[in-house]
Amino acid sequence: MSGEWLLNCNGDREVIMNRNVYIETYGCQMNVADSEVVASILTGAGFRPVDNINNAGLILINTCSIRENAEQRIWRRLKAISHLKKKNSGIVIGLIGCMAERLKEKVLEEDHFVDIVAGPDSYRELPLLVAGAESGHKAVNVLLSREETYADISPIRLDKNGVTSFVSIMRGCNNMCAYCVVPYVRGRERSRDPVTILKEVEELFNSGYREVTLLGQNVDSYRWNKNGYGITFAGLLEKVAGINPQLRVRFSTSHPKDISDDLLKTIAVHENICKHIHLPAQSGSNRILTLMNREYTRECYMDRITAIRKIIPECSVSTDMIAGFCTETEEDHKSSLELMEWAGFDFAYMFKYSERPGTRAARKNSDDVPEEIKTKRLNEIIALQNKLSAVSKKNDLGKVFKVLIEGYSKRSMEYLSGRNSQNKVVIFPAESYKKGEYVSVYAERCTSATLFGKIIKQ
Ligand code: 5AD
Ligand code: SF4
Repeated sequence: MSGEWLLNCNGDREVIMNRNVYIETYGCQMNVADSEVVASILTGAGFRPVDNINNAGLILINTCSIRENAEQRIWRRLKAISHLKKKNSGIVIGLIGCMAERLKEKVLEEDHFVDIVAGPDSYRELPLLVAGAESGHKAVNVLLSREETYADISPIRLDKNGVTSFVSIMRGCNNMCAYCVVPYVRGRERSRDPVTILKEVEELFNSGYREVTLLGQNVDSYRWNKNGYGITFAGLLEKVAGINPQLRVRFSTSHPKDISDDLLKTIAVHENICKHIHLPAQSGSNRILTLMNREYTRECYMDRITAIRKIIPECSVSTDMIAGFCTETEEDHKSSLELMEWAGFDFAYMFKYSERPGTRAARKNSDDVPEEIKTKRLNEIIALQNKLSAVSKKNDLGKVFKVLIEGYSKRSMEYLSGRNSQNKVVIFPAESYKKGEYVSVYAERCTSATLFGKIIKQ
């Protein structure tokens, strides 16, 4: 590893290792949480997380495989940082996370100056892998585990906003959505010990955090059952919300086939459980939903939205949509648009289908929707969602929202930015308020993405 040298007590030159680690994170919130676990493991082994890549002796890229363009972006980034290695061959570069798991040893063959490859379940091994790389051995560990949840590790917060944080409550996924690489790169679903989750959240609250997002690929199937103690996701959510009324609780992601009325009722009765549900629909066509192996129909999805509206009337709902899945016809696509319009989503993440090697769809179906049709359909989905997002914000005008301040607005230090319970960004004049405080904001105007308002003193 790179470093300076000094004379030791025998008068020999000894290299002082550069123990600074720089971690760059791509992909979902789960990866953000994982990078914090990695930072904690490496800190325990004598490393120090740094913000500047140029000061690092160890560079880790935490990667995503969900779509081909996510991987291409990471290859480009690796190419861009290879000059650091050319300048200083002692630097160790590691590729970790989902792409490491998917490509395994192949990453090393690509000659991108990578020394370490570590999958999502092998982070405890990182200090050993780094030691191997230091002595000139490229190192790979991509073993998936049925038990690993990093339950005992206190993540080191890298974002430094000090107000909002992610807490991973489970790992892996047992659903086999035909398009999705996640079960292959993150392994089987396992829930984390609730005692360690509650401890982590309490520590966050005590150090000033005011919002946690509980993370899992499918939080509704969180289940802990050991030594006579059992708890479901609704029970866990209730316990986390009970830590302190000043702590907001969010969660992601819910699955339409698993989200129960019980959970909705829990959300409804606790003021500090945020009134926002991310419920990916993916498609509005029953034929496509079957091909995707989503295990619900359009009617079941609509039933869940109806239940949300009934049990939690003020709840916002966001979704994920995929355009151009295998065999998708214009009629299927219209069904997706109709479902979006009917649901009136407040927000959506929208994607073109990207075939991932090894998935069920890649094995069984042909990626037969031409690229230009995928683009056209995605654009229609985005245009519709822009309209729906604008309607959603317009409906909020004239209302007062409790907003948790997260920091200054991106454009000006004279304005603060935060989110309301429904997860909508709200901007307002700063006055003398600070991040971490709750304020009541009267919504005066909006764009399709943001609410603008003024603080109401109560
Ligand atoms: N192609 C396009 N989008 C995908 N997603 C997952 N896999 C793919 C894929 N192969 C989307 C889904 C999922 C979100 C996280 O990413 O909409 O909900
Ligand atoms: Fe997250 Fe899935 Fe991307 Fe992995 S592949 S980083 S689980 S979105």
